[in-house]
Amino acid sequence: MSSFPVFDPASPQAEAIRDLFVQVLWISGGIFSIVAGLICVALFKFRSKGKLPAQDFGSHRKEIAWIVAPVIVVLWIAAISAKLVLTFNAVPQAHPPGEQVADLIVTGHQWWWEIEYAGTDIVSANEIHIPTGKRLRVQLSSADVIHSFWVARLARKMDAIPGRENFIWLQADEPGVYQGRCAEFCGTQHAWMNFLVHAHDPEEYEQWLSKEKVVPPTPVEPNAVAGRKTFLSLTCSQCHAIAGTGARRSIAPDLTHLASRSELAAGVLSNTPENLRLWLKNPAAYKPGCKMPDFKLTDQQLDDLVAYLETLK
Ligand code: CUA
Repeated sequence: MSSFPVFDPASPQAEAIRDLFVQVLWISGGIFSIVAGLICVALFKFRSKGKLPAQDFGSHRKEIAWIVAPVIVVLWIAAISAKLVLTFNAVPQAHPPGEQVADLIVTGHQWWWEIEYAGTDIVSANEIHIPTGKRLRVQLSSADVIHSFWVARLARKMDAIPGRENFIWLQADEPGVYQGRCAEFCGTQHAWMNFLVHAHDPEEYEQWLSKEKVVPPTPVEPNAVAGRKTFLSLTCSQCHAIAGTGARRSIAPDLTHLASRSELAAGVLSNTPENLRLWLKNPAAYKPGCKMPDFKLTDQQLDDLVAYLETLK
C-alpha cells in the first residue's frame, strides 16, 4: 500500500480527485511563490533605514487588479471543484419508497462499519468485497454519531450521519486490497475504525458472493460445539448475529463469516486464533472504550469460543 494513497488513485473518481488536488496545489504554490518572492525583494531592496518605496496609495488601477485577479482564481477553483462533485454525484433519482437504490448499504457504528449487500441477506463488518470495473452506489448512514467513510485510493470522502442517507460511488479498476478509514472524529476509538475494500475480478467476486451466502454448518468438533453453546447462552448473542443460529441482534458486528475476515476489531488485530482469544479475554486491553465488555471468561470458555468462531468461514 502506498504511503501517500491520495497520490496513488485506483479508480476514475480518485484519479479526478488527485488531478484536482494537484491543480489546486500548483495554483496555491504559484501564489505563495509570488507573495513570498515579493516579500523577499522588498526586504532586500528596502533594508536600509529611511529608504522607502514609491508610495502610490489610492491607485485605482492597481486596486482593481488586486481584486479581479484573486476573484478569477477563486472562481476557477470553485468551477473545477463543482464540476468534479457533479460528475461523481451518486445521489439516486427520486424513487418509490422501499425501492432498492444502492448496491451496498454501509452504517457507521462506534467503532466499526456494518456492510449490507443489497438484494442478499449478506451482512458483514469492516470488510467490503466488490467486483472490479463496476461502479457501485454506496448508501451511508450512522447508528450513533457522525462518521466519515473514506477509501482514499477509490473514492471521495463522505459523512455517515444518523437519520440521513448519503451516497457515493465506489469503484476499483484493479483487483487488490484498499485501506479505508473513518475520517471524522467520532469518539475515543476513532483511530481504530478502519476497514478494507477487497476488489476481485468479477468471476472471483461471484465465487466470494456464493460462498458468503452459505450459512456455516453447525460444528461437530466437541470444543466448537461447547463454544457454540457458550456463545448462545452468554450475552454474546444479545449483540452479535450469526446466521443459522438464534443470534439475530445486530448492534455489534455480524459474525457469520468471522473466520474469513483478515482483521479483528476494525483493524486493531490481525485475525488469527491467538489474537481472537486475546481479544475475547479483554477487548478493552486492545481497544479502550469499546462497547464489548470483558466477560471474565474462563480459559476453557475462551478455548471453546475460539474453536467455534474459527469454524465460521
Ligand atoms: Cu467513526 Cu471516526
